[in-house]
Amino acid sequence: MIEGKMLRLTHLVAKGGCASKLAQAQLKEVLSALPVQKDPNVLVGFETSDDAGVYLLPGGVALVQTMDFFTPIVDDPYRYGAIAATNALSDVYAMGGEPITVMNIALFDPEVAPPAVWAEVFRGMGEKVSEAGATTVGGHSVVDKEPKFGLSVTGLVDPERVFSNRNAEVGDQIWLTKPLGTGIVTTGMKFDDATEEDAAEAIRWMTTLNKGAKDSALLAGVRCATDVTGFSLVGHLGNICRASDVSIRLVASALPHFSSVERLVEAKCTTGAAVRNREAVSDLLSYEEGVPEWLIQLTIDPQTSGGLALFSRQEIPGATWIGEVTGTGAGIRVSQ
Ligand code: CO
Ligand code: CO
Repeated sequence: MIEGKMLRLTHLVAKGGCASKLAQAQLKEVLSALPVQKDPNVLVGFETSDDAGVYLLPGGVALVQTMDFFTPIVDDPYRYGAIAATNALSDVYAMGGEPITVMNIALFDPEVAPPAVWAEVFRGMGEKVSEAGATTVGGHSVVDKEPKFGLSVTGLVDPERVFSNRNAEVGDQIWLTKPLGTGIVTTGMKFDDATEEDAAEAIRWMTTLNKGAKDSALLAGVRCATDVTGFSLVGHLGNICRASDVSIRLVASALPHFSSVERLVEAKCTTGAAVRNREAVSDLLSYEEGVPEWLIQLTIDPQTSGGLALFSRQEIPGATWIGEVTGTGAGIRVSQ
């Protein structure tokens, strides 16, 4: 595509570095060095591993702030930009907010991935930001051999209606708004185990904004939610279990997933991040005997631009029921 040669963005990612982030335990160690902060306007800080920070402004509105960026997970630069934007915007929706402005973070080496390729990344990003009704106000670029792209996003939220990790209650039903399996499918794409159709299905969902899911959640009176991203379904739900001190039951056979997941798990398209995700919640997590291995893999699969997991008393239209809050004391039990 550039100078007659097909540039595969995912092949520029350093070995073992595929969109990986620090394991939760490593992140905790780093964050522990921060001085204790006591600003009363901070409604949601980083302590509860929530999706975004929420800061109360004068006048009864609150600011939602988040950032997210990662290495290419698809080869097509336009789709990479669209996925990165959809993913970063999602953390504002996961707090019940509406994004207003974004700034981009772009790391690329023009010798390896020329500006024409990056223009496509920005075009994909720009379309999603427009679809979200937000505006790009700036950004920062750095030359780096391994490409990385993402956004910092600022949004607004009604401080009385924030979706906080602290608000789960016994009796809440858990609903998921997108199928699981993006880590498995994108690994399959990287190693050419996934078909065009497998890829198209995952990309379609990864570029679907969580705006509609957020709007449905607000209508249903939801007060607790997370988007399911790199730490996997059980990792992000684990953060809610810890912050709210509740235990949940997930039903493996109810989990929505991409059609190729079982086949790709059999082809060993799993990730090191999934192993770390499982370790991070090993103190909380147990599986009922008989849950098939591919469904276990699905629960720990790192997601990119995943759906919202919503804790609700009401049915959420368009979402899939996956479990419920069963008691107090942090825990996750996955039944068949
Ligand atoms: Co999130
Ligand atoms: Co995030």
